[in-house]
Amino acid sequence: MAMRYCALLVICLTSDFAAGNLISQNNTFNSTFRLTPAQIAATNLTNATVQNVEIALRFERSNNAGYLIQDDPFYHVPASYNSQDPPPPGTILKVEEHTNLTLYTIPNSISMSRFLYVSETFNGSSVPASAYVLVKISASAQPIEDYANNATNLTACKDGNASTGPLYPTIGLCHGTSGQTQACAPSGLRSLWDDFHEPFALALAGYAVVAPDYVGLGVPNITSPYFILPSQANDLYHSVAAAQSHWPGMLSKEFVIAGQSQGGAVAWAAAQRQHQRPVEGYLGTMAASPFTDVIADIVADNAAENNARVAGIAQGLDTVLPDFSISDWLTPLGVARWNLVQEIKGCGTTGGQLSAAEGGTLQILKDGWNETWAADWYRNNTMNGGKAFAGPMLVIQGTQDPNANEPVTSKSVNETCVLYPDSQLEYIRWENITHVPVLYAAQHLWLDWIKDRFDGVAATEGCSVETKSPPRGVNGVQFAGFNDNTWFIEYDVYGI
Ligand SMILES: *[C@@H]1O[C@H](CO)[C@@H](O)[C@H](O)[C@H]1NC(C)=O
Ligand SMILES: *[C@@H]1O[C@H](CO)[C@@H](O)[C@H](O)[C@H]1NC(C)=O
Ligand SMILES: *[C@@H]1O[C@H](CO)[C@@H](O)[C@H](O)[C@H]1NC(C)=O
Ligand SMILES: *[C@@H]1O[C@H](CO)[C@@H](O)[C@H](O)[C@H]1NC(C)=O
Ligand SMILES: *[C@@H]1O[C@H](CO)[C@@H](O)[C@H](O)[C@H]1NC(C)=O
Ligand SMILES: *[C@@H]1O[C@H](CO)[C@@H](O)[C@H](O)[C@H]1NC(C)=O
Ligand SMILES: *[C@@H]1O[C@H](CO)[C@@H](O)[C@H](O)[C@H]1NC(C)=O
Ligand SMILES: *[C@@H]1O[C@H](CO)[C@@H](O)[C@H](O)[C@H]1NC(C)=O
Ligand SMILES: *[C@@H]1O[C@H](CO)[C@@H](O)[C@H](O)[C@H]1NC(C)=O
Ligand SMILES: *[C@@H]1O[C@H](CO)[C@@H](O)[C@H](O)[C@H]1NC(C)=O
Ligand SMILES: *[C@@H]1O[C@H](CO)[C@@H](O)[C@H](O)[C@H]1NC(C)=O
Ligand SMILES: *[C@@H]1O[C@H](CO)[C@@H](O)[C@H](O)[C@H]1NC(C)=O
Repeated sequence: MAMRYCALLVICLTSDFAAGNLISQNNTFNSTFRLTPAQIAATNLTNATVQNVEIALRFERSNNAGYLIQDDPFYHVPASYNSQDPPPPGTILKVEEHTNLTLYTIPNSISMSRFLYVSETFNGSSVPASAYVLVKISASAQPIEDYANNATNLTACKDGNASTGPLYPTIGLCHGTSGQTQACAPSGLRSLWDDFHEPFALALAGYAVVAPDYVGLGVPNITSPYFILPSQANDLYHSVAAAQSHWPGMLSKEFVIAGQSQGGAVAWAAAQRQHQRPVEGYLGTMAASPFTDVIADIVADNAAENNARVAGIAQGLDTVLPDFSISDWLTPLGVARWNLVQEIKGCGTTGGQLSAAEGGTLQILKDGWNETWAADWYRNNTMNGGKAFAGPMLVIQGTQDPNANEPVTSKSVNETCVLYPDSQLEYIRWENITHVPVLYAAQHLWLDWIKDRFDGVAATEGCSVETKSPPRGVNGVQFAGFNDNTWFIEYDVYGI
């Protein structure tokens, strides 16, 4: 085996040299976007910020799988969709059975489908949205034959479908914040936004990954109810139901919910929804670096990089509260900049540049935004924790997370465990670990935990809290890309 690796390496190096002039990876920004003088004047941008915004937007556009999402006809609802009399949530509207993966950076052996389906708004009405499904070519989390014969009794097996085709255990995956406009749908981004943190890791482990683009991301002309967590929990349930209805022989009826960051918050909200509105097949929830009391998390940081999140939440509140306007929370400059994010269809990186307020020297948020009635409404209606939920739930949290802060998460866990001591909540804190890296630090643990749910292993009863310290200390541990990745995934343009 070792010999074969050696041989491969030599071949690679040889063809690497043979490739001649290598293309610098920084040339792959597939956009020449420029802000107009009118856009710059309206938002009072310094030249440095103009440059940062242009680079950020070019970077974001380069992350599209070919088409810009806003130019991709896939995201248009079929003409037969009647918005006055829409079909019920969970209905499939359109299916792209085999997504052309040429312009995606998805690992070998995985295939993808995209679909449009009907989701449900916070207020209970139907709304169209998009989602993707990933499955690996051959393997399952365990051999499919064993799986079909196992005592876990998966619904599709009982229905006899296992003998006619592959059966994948289903994960409902809630993505982290990609942005707040139509252009930010993970299903149209070449590495699906969360890449190896979650969707690739889960698909490679043999699961079918069903992942909604939250409403407003993808399908045109719908304002994203950003961080109105019960809305995104609706997206999760209805996309899973829609996918299961379209691929009954492929997807198990049983499902585990997983997510990190905003996705962790959505996962927790989904577990709370499951308590109130039980859905058959639910096996449990894994919430990583979850936002729980979002405003407390933001206030704890008190940093300009949170401005975009607050502006995004204001946008979300504007979709659900008739008496609220984003100018209740944002200064005139903040409103102008947020309008520009919408106009140029920026995502998280661009929104961050426009909202960072020149290093915090400009005021984007109104003083006291967090003490308005809308903030109160937001806490009352979207908070995670201190509420009943359907277990089992695994919560993993880095103690040095600068976004979803460990003390806030720990407080929410405590409040939940005090009020609902019989709920099955396993809380694990990882020392020296931050927001996204906790998914890597704990990968073995959460993958095992998910497998246990499908294997029918009983989860631990009651609440448990555990802290993991690095057994070998932190010396030499990769901490670059402290908050996120140490890489960007690029195309192989050399064909080697
Ligand atoms: C790419 O990087 C190289 C080396 O760092 C630099 O010389 C070149 O100007 C860069 N090209 C672009 C288009 O940024
Ligand atoms: C516009 O930007 C300039 C330079 O950063 C700053 O001095 C000025 O206060 C800003 N005006 C507003 C309304 O934010
Ligand atoms: C900002 O950019 C404009 C247009 O490129 C240029 O005319 C102006 O001199 C620049 N201002 C500063 C302060 O560099
Ligand atoms: C670059 O963008 C154009 C226009 O959106 C698109 O047709 C093309 O496929 C993209 N190329 C790559 C490598 O993404
Ligand atoms: C997939 O996309 C690539 C790049 O746009 C294109 O060259 C190829 O023809 C497409 N394949 C199919 C089967 O449509
Ligand atoms: C099937 O279930 C049995 C009983 O729970 C378990 O011992 C066995 O490991 C499972 N098989 C696989 C392949 O997971
Ligand atoms: C199998 O399914 C039946 C009917 O839903 C249920 O009663 C039984 O408990 C299940 N068995 C296991 C091992 O999960
Ligand atoms: C979205 O709204 C714009 C402006 O109202 C309109 O021109 C466009 O046709 C709409 N797009 C779709 C796909 O409905
Ligand atoms: C609101 O934010 C301010 C400034 O960060 C902080 O001092 C205050 O305690 C916050 N109030 C609430 C209710 O969160
Ligand atoms: C939030 O909940 C508290 C306690 O139930 C209540 O007093 C308050 O009126 C609520 N605020 C809003 C805006 O819903
Ligand atoms: C949570 O509860 C534990 C044990 O009761 C306590 O040690 C810890 O300080 C509490 N954490 C927070 C953030 O309240
Ligand atoms: C690692 O975590 C421990 C315990 O919280 C802390 O004392 C130590 O300073 C951390 N080390 C680094 C390098 O962050």
